[in-house]
Amino acid sequence: MHLLILGGTVFLSRTIAEVARDRGHEVTCAARGVSGSPPAGVEFVQVDRDQPEGLARLGDANYDAVVDVERQSPTRVRRALEALGSSAAHWTYVSSGSVYTDPGTTGQKATTSPMESPPPEGSDENDRELYGPFKVACENEVRLAVDDKAFLCRAGLIVGPRDISDRFGYWPVRLARGGEVLVPGAPDDLVQYVDVRDLAEWIVHCAKNRVVGTFDGIAPSQPWGQVLQGMLAAVGGPAVSLTWVPADWLGRQEVTPWSGPDSLPLWLPLPDYAGFMSRDVSASVKAGLSTRSTEETATATLEWEKVLGLDRDRRSGISGEREVELLAAWHAAD
Ligand SMILES: NC(=O)c1ccc[n+]([C@@H]2O[C@H](COP(=O)([O-])OP(=O)(O)OC[C@H]3O[C@@H](n4cnc5c(N)ncnc54)[C@H](OP(=O)(O)O)[C@@H]3O)[C@@H](O)[C@H]2O)c1
Repeated sequence: MHLLILGGTVFLSRTIAEVARDRGHEVTCAARGVSGSPPAGVEFVQVDRDQPEGLARLGDANYDAVVDVERQSPTRVRRALEALGSSAAHWTYVSSGSVYTDPGTTGQKATTSPMESPPPEGSDENDRELYGPFKVACENEVRLAVDDKAFLCRAGLIVGPRDISDRFGYWPVRLARGGEVLVPGAPDDLVQYVDVRDLAEWIVHCAKNRVVGTFDGIAPSQPWGQVLQGMLAAVGGPAVSLTWVPADWLGRQEVTPWSGPDSLPLWLPLPDYAGFMSRDVSASVKAGLSTRSTEETATATLEWEKVLGLDRDRRSGISGEREVELLAAWHAAD
């Protein structure tokens, strides 16, 4: 298979390029090349999707399959479809779970979940507040042009090597440091994420096998306590003890859920967000998505975190001092 990846220089799209190359496929990555570089052993074509004719250089080649990871611009998605949609036999668009509007109901499926509407006409395609609606608009462009050969993959939280979001990596790093660890919520709370390498393997599998339809790109949910035990087994440092602290108490201390400064990543308020972490992905698994162990993900994530620098200022997570302060307040209140 000759696979064209619109991207290929940073995180998910670069991992797709690596996986496809390692599976023996011919791979072309097309990007500006300003955010990173593609992996060795693939062809790179410099393109700028902000230019109306930016993909013209790709038009003459015949690709068996195209993977587009465009974040949220329906204009860029449409231009790619105009340039390449009729010749490619299979088209993957990486969408997001942010297209869904009901974060609370558990066990929802990709094909029946209520969805955002596209943004109002004239909205700014760079408006991050409109990420979900613009993802819907991007999906609609793909359906309109290549519905019969489209694989719409709605990714959830993507984690692992080359993740630059600073979220998931907080936990392997923290557990590796050892000592008393502040943990939000309860062991039975469900969490759901996907290792970037598993998602990439599945996307390549679906391109090769011409899988079409709309799917969630996320692993089955797991109890949070089990995930932490898996991480501990792989990367746990000296004398780790987990101190479970209820979410409502953390909220009162103004600890932020999910991501951002002074946050505890992966934690979401329940039951409001219970559906976000418990999607029914049996259709994805049936279509070939397989997921590696938490231990493997934790080990590889910690290695990547070391490359980024363990002592850097994180964009997500709490500092060591803040954790000590919170633990003292919790024990005093307990
Ligand atoms: N990360 C998550 O947890 C998560 C969750 C749900 C969904 N998603 C979705 O997953 C997809 C992949 O995300 P990612 O962050 O992993 O992407 P990525 O691999 O970083 O790929 C983005 C690519 O777009 C290229 N690009 C950006 N602007 C361009 C332009 N003007 N012309 C040509 N190429 C351009 C970048 O290269 P250059 O900058 O070098 O051009 C890069 O190769 C996105 O659609 C995202 O919405 C991510």
